[in-house]
Amino acid sequence: MSLDQLVKDDEKTPVLCLPHQCEFLSDTWLDRVRDFLAKEISRTDSALPLFSLAMRLVDAPAHLGFDENIAQCSVRFDGSQLQVDRQIEGDFEVLVEGAYQAGLFMAQIVGAQVPGCLAEAEREKQHLFGAQALRMQGQISDARVQGVMARLYDHMARLTVENPDLCHRAEALGLARHIREVEEQGYTVIENAISPEFADDVRAATLRAVMAHDGYQLQWMLYHGQEFERLLQNAPLMTLMDASLGRGAGIGSISAIVRGPGPGGIPLHNDYSMIPEPYPDFAMTGVGVWALEDWTVASGPTWIVPGSHRERRAPNKGEGLDRGVAIEMPKGSVVYFTYGVWHWQGDRSEPGQRVTVHSHFNRGILRGLEPKRVDVQMMHRNAPRLGEMLGEDDWFDKLDAHGRDYLRAGHMAKLQAFTEQRKKLLLSQVSTGPESVLTS
Ligand SMILES: [Fe+2]
Repeated sequence: MSLDQLVKDDEKTPVLCLPHQCEFLSDTWLDRVRDFLAKEISRTDSALPLFSLAMRLVDAPAHLGFDENIAQCSVRFDGSQLQVDRQIEGDFEVLVEGAYQAGLFMAQIVGAQVPGCLAEAEREKQHLFGAQALRMQGQISDARVQGVMARLYDHMARLTVENPDLCHRAEALGLARHIREVEEQGYTVIENAISPEFADDVRAATLRAVMAHDGYQLQWMLYHGQEFERLLQNAPLMTLMDASLGRGAGIGSISAIVRGPGPGGIPLHNDYSMIPEPYPDFAMTGVGVWALEDWTVASGPTWIVPGSHRERRAPNKGEGLDRGVAIEMPKGSVVYFTYGVWHWQGDRSEPGQRVTVHSHFNRGILRGLEPKRVDVQMMHRNAPRLGEMLGEDDWFDKLDAHGRDYLRAGHMAKLQAFTEQRKKLLLSQVSTGPESVLTS
């Protein structure tokens, strides 16, 4: 399906999210900023002081239709009139400039009023995109306006979807090579997908949860703390999930494993539980295993048999062990494998514990290994990305008195078609074309 086919006659750009959501810096996004601020201004007892902000981000995805793919907007309140539009002429108290995808990373963080939350998000953003990817000049000094802005920030983050253009997003995150590797080898490693500091936080939270149970392994890790809510929405890993499993992929199981020295406890296998052979040529499940310490051969890493997914079947006992490679990667990295690739847990010869979190996702049409619990407060403290993996954006398991949820059925079909189209473009251009496809 071409981009043109995704645009209805009465639309300027394709609508690739549900009506209650919006894309970062789209016209709908601006409308909701305006509506929210108008309500905030009208409910204050005494007039708010003047305030003004502007944002100018380059390399926005092409489907949003901005001139030269530059997305910009401004907010100005003169004491009586509120103006929210695309003009960024003149002086503003705050000016944000940089790259669209880095801005979107921050725009999906809910927690502007939670101490330390935005500072942690800023650290992760700089870790992924670099210190200069998003720059802010100036600041809001009035405490009441700061409060309004914090509430606006969270309100918009709850509505803002991830960039639906897989090709553009993968390029912006430096993942085109990784998507190609998954197709060819059945796996890839994203080094340093989170900061070492965040890896330490996740490791500590994992140990707290696991030690309260059997001390070895645990499932349902999403529900053991906000560290896991953040980890699951990791933009690089979810981009690989989107590429191989399609949009609307659901959580299959979020598990943790703590292991000490000794032989590996999980023999050669694949993750295609009860899937008949030969396996389909599209991916059914994918797993990202997070390294929360440095992984070396001595630490007992996962071993993978590259290309074994082409067999489209489970391994026979001992088959492929001589072709296995140890996944060595620094703390904060994630290995992603799919297509039923063969793997096992290696022996650990060094002391101490290896602590891992396993993000196991299924194509949206499949069932998970653990039941999903949609907690409305969890949804409220996260962007729509988390709801998507809990099945909130598709039509499965949904029905009301009027019948099936055709709105979500249509939305997911459109999003899937766009994702597939962009994946094909990415794969064709990575193999033979130019380095960047940002303007395509
Ligand atoms: Fe496995």
